[in-house]
Amino acid sequence: MSDSTSNKTASLAALASHASLARTWQLSTLFAQDKQRFQRFSLEAAGLFLDYSKNHIDASTVSLLTGFARSCGLEQRRDAMFKGEPVNTTEQRPALHTLLRAPAEQRFELDGEVLSSEVQQVLVRMDQLSQRVRSGEWLGFTGKVITDVVNIGIGGSDLGPAMACAALRPFIKPGLRAHFLSNVDGHAIDAVLANLSPETTLFIIASKSFTTQETLINAHVAREWFLSKGKASDLSKHFVAVSTNTKAVAEFGIDTANMLPFWDWVGGRYSVWSAIGLSIAIAVGMDNFRAFLAGAHDMDMHFRKSPLEQNMPVMLGLISWWYRQYFGSTSHLIAPYHEDLRLFPLHLQQVDMESNGKRVTTAGIPVTSPTAQVIWGSTGTNGQHAYFQMLHQGTDVVPVDFIATIHPSHDRINQHNALLANCFAQAEALMVGHQKDERPDHVGEALAEFRVLPGNRPSNTLLIDTLTPASLGALLALYEHKTFVQGVLWDINSFDQWGVERGKTLAARILPELEGRTSSHTHDGSTTGLITRTLQKKH
Ligand code: F6P
Repeated sequence: MSDSTSNKTASLAALASHASLARTWQLSTLFAQDKQRFQRFSLEAAGLFLDYSKNHIDASTVSLLTGFARSCGLEQRRDAMFKGEPVNTTEQRPALHTLLRAPAEQRFELDGEVLSSEVQQVLVRMDQLSQRVRSGEWLGFTGKVITDVVNIGIGGSDLGPAMACAALRPFIKPGLRAHFLSNVDGHAIDAVLANLSPETTLFIIASKSFTTQETLINAHVAREWFLSKGKASDLSKHFVAVSTNTKAVAEFGIDTANMLPFWDWVGGRYSVWSAIGLSIAIAVGMDNFRAFLAGAHDMDMHFRKSPLEQNMPVMLGLISWWYRQYFGSTSHLIAPYHEDLRLFPLHLQQVDMESNGKRVTTAGIPVTSPTAQVIWGSTGTNGQHAYFQMLHQGTDVVPVDFIATIHPSHDRINQHNALLANCFAQAEALMVGHQKDERPDHVGEALAEFRVLPGNRPSNTLLIDTLTPASLGALLALYEHKTFVQGVLWDINSFDQWGVERGKTLAARILPELEGRTSSHTHDGSTTGLITRTLQKKH
């Protein structure tokens, strides 16, 4: 056994025995015993404040967890990612999304190519293109200014930009609307096109591969819709592309002068920082897009330079791993108490579950511990009136990340105070619960048990001063790095996604059958039954 393997084994053994103790701890007691607990277990970085004191941890837990992280080589693997080493081992390429948000003056060369200049050149082109649309210089085929931008993409080519445009709503130029079309479901494109005019609409076809079925189908339908009014020679005024695949873009009929490139070393779920963010730049302006990048870079620097014990993404990753490993938590709730962050949990689902939903280690051996949690969530206070009941009285323990801003971007202070009061109250209620003897006098013994909330349920609270492009950038980078940290702890490759390929292949086989073009494929009885019934009902 190598030194690092034996260190890891010893760390895990120590953690397992410590966990059996920690599972007996009452969070309220930990606070009663340590008046400095809040100060001790909170952190500030890149403008974000994290309170992680309401967790089943103490100083020795932190030391054991960080010791384990070191035995997994977290610091080395983090540095390897920033340096551009091929950390995506199954595809033999780097994961360099952090370079996309590095300052312009920071030179970065890999294998003889100055990647930093390529990044900066694309940013300049994004700036020019977005400025032309925003200023009204970019005109549609009848000479009208563009009022609506439709991003057609899916997964990472949709979720990040859609999330950021929603989050930065107050920064969007009045009169400009950004729409996001992802689903191949025809109802989706109907809903988007219903209120648009081909004269004033600009489509961004966003696809790293430019082979994704949903995106290409939607792009073709959008082109037909446009051609019902405009001429083929006008297409270049209404269609631009963001892709790594110049040939496919040209074949689709988009002028490659209107194509912004990016690179295979940018994973789809990390591509919001690349030209895939064009819709954001058009909506909120390039200065704000650059501030979004800068906020993320601040978090990158914090992640790269801070000791593990004071490192926000590391602590978030370790704590979440702790509950997955030793407390049986199968899911993790993201609860933003900010309406404009309503798409944040959806974007994090891809960031986290596409990254860490893996079954083998980097050596290709089945993992011996459970990997990614289910990431889910929606905004507070809405969730409180839907599924929070289960958090308080259900039998599963679901760790929660509450996210709130101290200052809103409106001036309805009473509403904001009510929102924050609810956020803090939920975290408190999860922890302190409601005991039998606390019930009101009029509640008799018969009902007493029904009203008990056991409490002792963990949560983190992230406080942001104000939701701005910079703080949004820092927040997203925080979760990207948290995901990376967990991938290292499980020793998995967080940068590939082979699991999604099988469904794509099978859908490509089933499609001609539904179209009645072939019936030659064999399937299981259920799939055959579904296809047959659908075909019978169609005719
Ligand atoms: O299906 C998974 C996936 O490959 C994601 O990783 C990616 O973000 C998405 O599809 C879209 O891919 P593309 O940008 O190549 O269209």
